Amino acid sequence: ASDVLLNGPLKGKHILVTSGPTHEPIDPVRYIANRSSGAQGSAIANALIALGARVTFITGPARAEMPMGCVIERVQTAGEMLTAVEKTLPVDGAVFAAAVADWRVTSASDSKIKKTKSGDLPTLSFAENPDILATVSQMKKLRPKLIVGFAAETDDVIDNATAKRARKGCDWIVANDVSPETGIMGGAENDVTLITPDAAHDWPRMSKDAVAQKLAAEIAKALK
Ligand code: CTP
Ligand code: CA
Repeated sequence: ASDVLLNGPLKGKHILVTSGPTHEPIDPVRYIANRSSGAQGSAIANALIALGARVTFITGPARAEMPMGCVIERVQTAGEMLTAVEKTLPVDGAVFAAAVADWRVTSASDSKIKKTKSGDLPTLSFAENPDILATVSQMKKLRPKLIVGFAAETDDVIDNATAKRARKGCDWIVANDVSPETGIMGGAENDVTLITPDAAHDWPRMSKDAVAQKLAAEIAKALK
């Protein structure tokens, strides 16, 4: 971050940001993943740093450039991400921008799964991953003062995201439409609605950097 405000509005605040996809192993050479690039998470970390925050950035294997001027923790799986988040607490604020895999393969194989002569197909079974956002939102002593989640939806975006905010117990949800035709997943722009306890603020479509700066400004106001 080149234009860090040393006396910015987030000076003295510690904020954790999760970002990127997670990878859930199938065997040593294969994994389950999703299309998250990590671009929105990196942009949010940079925007918070620019306002003077101390940021801990916990990221899955992302294509996006890493933010500059913060502590970076690299993880692969949802389980590892939860552990890294718990180790980082307490913090003043937390932004959960990661696209955490919802399921992991129950018994990942220690050796490469091979094709069989008979053509028998492998069967994968899944377990649900821990919900990191919900876990932290429901903490008693260590709950950050401000928790921001994301809601990636393809249908009924506002309704689903509003319900998600209540269900998980976070303060705000940044809702976005990730339908393939929007080009948002993996693209440079985002089109979000910020859902707070009493309103849904529809922001115009703008670059992921601009979304990050607007969100960081709102976070600064809330943590003042
Ligand atoms: N999240 C998380 N841990 C998970 C799943 C999601 O911390 N295991 C967080 C994401 O980082 C995001 C928010 O929860 O901030 C919502 O993620 P999303 O995938 O939209 O919600 P889910 O609860 O997983 O619901 P679904 O995917 O079924 O819509
Ligand atoms: Ca999910």
